[in-house]
Amino acid sequence: MSNYHIKHLEEYYQVYRKSVRNPEVFWEEIAEEHFLWRKKWDKVLSWDFAKPEIKWFEGAKLNITENCIDRHIYTRGDKTAIIFEPNNPEEATQHISYRELHDRVCRFANVLKDQGVKKGDRVCIYVPMIPELTVAILACARIGAIHSVVFAGFSSKALSTRINDSDCKLVITADGSYRGAKTIDLKGIVDEALESCPGVKTVLVAKRINSAIEMKPNRDYWLQPLLDDAYHDCDPEIMDAEDPLFILYTSGSTGKPKGMVHTIAGYMVYTAYTFKNAFQYREHDVFWCTADIGWITGHSYIVYGPLANGATSVMFEGVPSYPDFGRFWDIVQKHKVNQFYTAPTAIRALAKQGAELVEKYDLSSLKVLGSVGEPINEEAWHWYNDVVGKNKSPIIDTWWQTETGGMMITPIPFVTPTKPTFATLPFIGVQPALMDETGNELKGNQVEGRLCIKFPWPGIARTIWGNHQRYKDTYFSTFENMYFTGDGALRDEVGYYRITGRVDDVIIVSGHNLGTAPIEDAINEHPAVAESAIVGFPHEVKGSALYGYITLKEVGESRMHDNLRKEINQLISDRIGPIAKLDKIQFTSALPKTRSGKIMRRILRKIAERDTSNLGDISTLLNPEVVQEIQERAL
Ligand code: PRX
Repeated sequence: MSNYHIKHLEEYYQVYRKSVRNPEVFWEEIAEEHFLWRKKWDKVLSWDFAKPEIKWFEGAKLNITENCIDRHIYTRGDKTAIIFEPNNPEEATQHISYRELHDRVCRFANVLKDQGVKKGDRVCIYVPMIPELTVAILACARIGAIHSVVFAGFSSKALSTRINDSDCKLVITADGSYRGAKTIDLKGIVDEALESCPGVKTVLVAKRINSAIEMKPNRDYWLQPLLDDAYHDCDPEIMDAEDPLFILYTSGSTGKPKGMVHTIAGYMVYTAYTFKNAFQYREHDVFWCTADIGWITGHSYIVYGPLANGATSVMFEGVPSYPDFGRFWDIVQKHKVNQFYTAPTAIRALAKQGAELVEKYDLSSLKVLGSVGEPINEEAWHWYNDVVGKNKSPIIDTWWQTETGGMMITPIPFVTPTKPTFATLPFIGVQPALMDETGNELKGNQVEGRLCIKFPWPGIARTIWGNHQRYKDTYFSTFENMYFTGDGALRDEVGYYRITGRVDDVIIVSGHNLGTAPIEDAINEHPAVAESAIVGFPHEVKGSALYGYITLKEVGESRMHDNLRKEINQLISDRIGPIAKLDKIQFTSALPKTRSGKIMRRILRKIAERDTSNLGDISTLLNPEVVQEIQERAL
């Protein structure tokens, strides 16, 4: 038996050593024993970070949906694969068994085929957290189409950019979505987006909110009648290990989002193995990840990781505050959730509401509590540990990224002793390195630097869709022969890692990764705006919030400023989505710049953080006088 399920610390160290001394042998054993292959690989791994090129299990043939669905039917056919918990607690929960999931995925796959979708085609999925989302994803995987899920909170502009970037021919959406007491007109957003997407020929629409929407003839089709007519079985397309499984966009340091490409076999093996170990999932457990499937956390730990293990995964449509702030705990009680995985921003928002709302519910089923998406602060960690976990459920602070596919640094519960705010030890097979700014590796403990990974793991993204050069420039050019994460980290006296935050122009707001460039691009579209710079500042609930410094073309009267603030935030909402709105907007006569014309964000960041005791040497700036003005009028 390979070391598929680690149960104590000694075993962790032993397996870890094995995984880094001989990664090929280690991952081959895992892949061999726990997955279904139509043909085994010719080579476990080939890689070159200089190109960069990474291939796992080359030559192997498989279909990921056979691993996530078909093979479970014989042993777990009636077991619930997905528990769907609707936005409205009055509406009935749905339990979708592995057998039913098979039926639904096959029907959907046949609908896609009927619409002319073929292996390698890109399909955009802009669907809220309803079962059709999971089914659509798996249906694409069934026929070898590449899914590109766009979070159904993104604006029409953000959607059209993503559709065009990956040249999707078909879009799957819903009439609308529920979000607490509100509804969102998703189809309207899609219609607007498609005005600038000439490549899209077909739109499939799931009915969710029963709103009156327009259906464009010969383009838009209601999904359900097509599913009803479709055949309930569909042979899986036999895929190569390194064929793309999906594209998922993440922000970067330019205005254009990066379409991260994950390939089938490595992603499957990595998400399944991390899921099993990091949550210590056991056969009859109920697992709940509160993320939206529109983000990598949902892809890996609502859909693929759990289903590859034959697990029961909860899918929640709503928000933590509806009908009240006890909703999460109500769901934990109702479905006897054993592993609960959420983001620090949600923990902070819930902690603010007090302990009573938690204590009302029976949370005794909980065994493991997970955190992801941003650094978890000490206060939130303790609240999670004490109030939710009653000091008996270990917290796993899991550090990873869209690009890494699965968890990279995390405690293994009941195995790794936890420490507040520390992601602790590298996961099996992960070889982190901390680098100084001149490119030297910082060896030993008690060091702080830029976090890199030295060796490939199966879940690493293989490229950026349509732009391999950008993949190379972003991740493999800062440090030679290293994958650079963009994060800073420290390693303490026992070798535990603590993530200190981004070292680039990405800001994590409520766990969402936002590049400053696309937001600035949106602001600069406003006719009154000359220039803008966005930085982050600490926020009680969101972790970080956005502070915008904006220079206007003409100095306006201050009473105009409030209107402008509204218009600018509206513009950001339209271009990107409401998550990217600015909390503070300061109008300034100029932005501090270096002599080569670069905006000095470091200074702006310090002012936004109200940490102006040490602004550094500003005398070399082109316009040092402006710093004083900005400081005096800081919000
Ligand atoms: O800065 C790190 C932060 O989130 C970034 C990745 O964001 P994204 O690709 O959207 O994926 C989020 C979900 C995996 C990282 O570069 N981050 C993620 N998890 C943690 C974290 N920062 C600190 N602690 C974490 N546990």
